[in-house]
Amino acid sequence: MSLNTVAINQRMDKFDGHASVWLFGYGSLIFKADFPFIERRPASIAGWTRRFWQGSHDHRGTASAPGRVVTLAPEPGAVCHGMAYLVTPEEFAHLDYREKNGYLRLATDIRFEDGSSVEGLVYIATHENAAYLGPASERDIARQIAGARGPSGPNSKYLLELAKALRELGKFDAHVAEIEKHLLAFQAEA
Ligand code: SIN
Repeated sequence: MSLNTVAINQRMDKFDGHASVWLFGYGSLIFKADFPFIERRPASIAGWTRRFWQGSHDHRGTASAPGRVVTLAPEPGAVCHGMAYLVTPEEFAHLDYREKNGYLRLATDIRFEDGSSVEGLVYIATHENAAYLGPASERDIARQIAGARGPSGPNSKYLLELAKALRELGKFDAHVAEIEKHLLAFQAEA
């Protein structure tokens, strides 16, 4: 699959004709909502776990020194907490561009804190995309993040803002917390 997923995402017609669509965010979409939305609610999706396994060549790194950002890995029984946004379909032009480095729109059930649920969309970068980096230890991931920066700023800021946003949501993510711990230790040594 090519690195740029805009064209593939634009062919996704599942919600055509809908006046609004729920979008589930689990990474930068939690802490950087640079798009208009009708409503925003803490939410979760089941069967997926958040992992810093996606390379970032365009936002938080460069082609020669990619950063690491989150994607979702399938895991039976797992629940990934994040933020859901109700948006108009027009917002997907901007969102597809923003998530173009390997992320594909996927239809999924989004569950709200009150137990109700709705079908919506999530952007997922699977192991088939060219920017995928895959698993590494939390320490190695933190080391890579500490040294990467791209047009959207330091990779460390992405990690620290995500960790803070999850704390504010009252949700603990062991993978994110462990990488944050190593990153802060590297920064303290530097
Ligand atoms: C998301 O936040 O839902 C997708 C990954 C990212 O943009 O960081």
